Amino acid sequence: MLASTFVLFGATGDLAKRKLFPALYNLDLDGKLPEPFAVFALGRKPFDDEMFREHAAEAIRRFSRRGNADEEKISRFVKRIKYQIADATDAAGYAGLRETVEKRERELGLPGDRLFYLSVAPEHFGPIASHIRASGLAKENALTRLVIEKPFGRDLATARALNAALLESFPAEDIYYIDHYLGKPMVQNLQSLIAANPVLKAVLSNKYVANVQITASETVGVESRAGYYDEAGALRDMFQNHMLQLLMMTARHSEIFDKRRIMESAYPIAKEAAGSHVVRGQYAAGSADGKPLAGYLDEPGIVPGSRTETYVAARVMLDDPIWRGVPFYIRTGKRMSEKSTRIVFVFKDPLEAHIQGEPVRNYLTIRVQPDESVDFRLNLHGMDGGLEPVSLRFSTRKEEVPEAYERLLHDALSGDPTFFAHWDEIELAWKWVQPLQEAFAENRVPLYTYPAGSRGPKEAEELLAEQGFSWLEQE
Ligand code: BG6
Repeated sequence: MLASTFVLFGATGDLAKRKLFPALYNLDLDGKLPEPFAVFALGRKPFDDEMFREHAAEAIRRFSRRGNADEEKISRFVKRIKYQIADATDAAGYAGLRETVEKRERELGLPGDRLFYLSVAPEHFGPIASHIRASGLAKENALTRLVIEKPFGRDLATARALNAALLESFPAEDIYYIDHYLGKPMVQNLQSLIAANPVLKAVLSNKYVANVQITASETVGVESRAGYYDEAGALRDMFQNHMLQLLMMTARHSEIFDKRRIMESAYPIAKEAAGSHVVRGQYAAGSADGKPLAGYLDEPGIVPGSRTETYVAARVMLDDPIWRGVPFYIRTGKRMSEKSTRIVFVFKDPLEAHIQGEPVRNYLTIRVQPDESVDFRLNLHGMDGGLEPVSLRFSTRKEEVPEAYERLLHDALSGDPTFFAHWDEIELAWKWVQPLQEAFAENRVPLYTYPAGSRGPKEAEELLAEQGFSWLEQE
């Protein structure tokens, strides 16, 4: 059953503008929202309904994949939104909020099935959840869903405290921890791609696969988020959540609940050994398309001399019957040469032959973004009698692909937790990352620099070279 009331805390923030309103609008265009549907946008800024609706309309025009769809549809959508000036940390305001919501639901004949979306700073998660419960804003005998945006804690202890605080107000099954990488269609399709192609299933194991490479590189730098990012760094911002979820999605054998088992099977890396399995980097000045780019330390708002990492690469080994012995190389970085998320299965090279100086291998590349594609590299005899690589490629066009948030918002409205991060996975991921956090804090792992606009620190090559491998870059 779909919740028909959407209450958004942090409605004037960046995420709401870039992702949430565009996603809701696209769901509306596709007829996937219940009718009627009420949106309450809560924020501190002094908007009235009309001003806020124009703000949301502008966000849709700018950021929706179908933003230039007709103005009539945008205006019909934004009319569903009511803006409410609210200080979400002040318990006193919740009674009024409840009245406003109930009044509107009565007008529209809605049952009071409510989804609360917390797009706010993490220190407010627990208090807001408790105010929602204490004020009766979560209606008795109706559906209630609480969606939480990352960061889910700073480390294992704070993540546990956060989860415990939320559980005081909401049962576990009503809490949806969003990891938007799980909403990316190609990530969701990974298992069905494998299951529907027995030929893939047959070869994706330690019998044939030499290593697996998971990359999420970004061209953007720290942007305007220095305050948050300089505290978080790539390990907390991307690795603990998106990258480890990609690992779980890639290595799981079948049903979604297998993910937890995969995370459990990851061999821990002790902080003393972190330097041998993990490379961290920070971007220095560089360039892209001939334009100079500032180094991380010269970005506005970064603490002078900061040792925050903007790049992490790690080798993860799994104690798993299918993947035992296969290194999973995982890397993520800002200010890299390209925006790309992809998973590459690198096959073994039993022929011991070479092609253009490289061992003759097959590769299966699954591109998640910016474009989706599945690419299988074969080796054929060319005209000159030597081997040359050829690719079998399937790709989808970008505008056809729904945004991660569209799927996830629809799932949360429908009460389907499949593609959310589950608490036990989050906890296991923090447990795995904890020694690395300590190793970074104690400077046990060198902080290398790499030029902005490059492929990251060259030392990350060595992580693979030790086993005779190298990163497969975009072709
Ligand atoms: C967010 C991180 O979770 O993911 C950002 O906080 C990062 O730092 C973003 O830029 C990347 O998401 P996407 O969908 O653009 O790959």
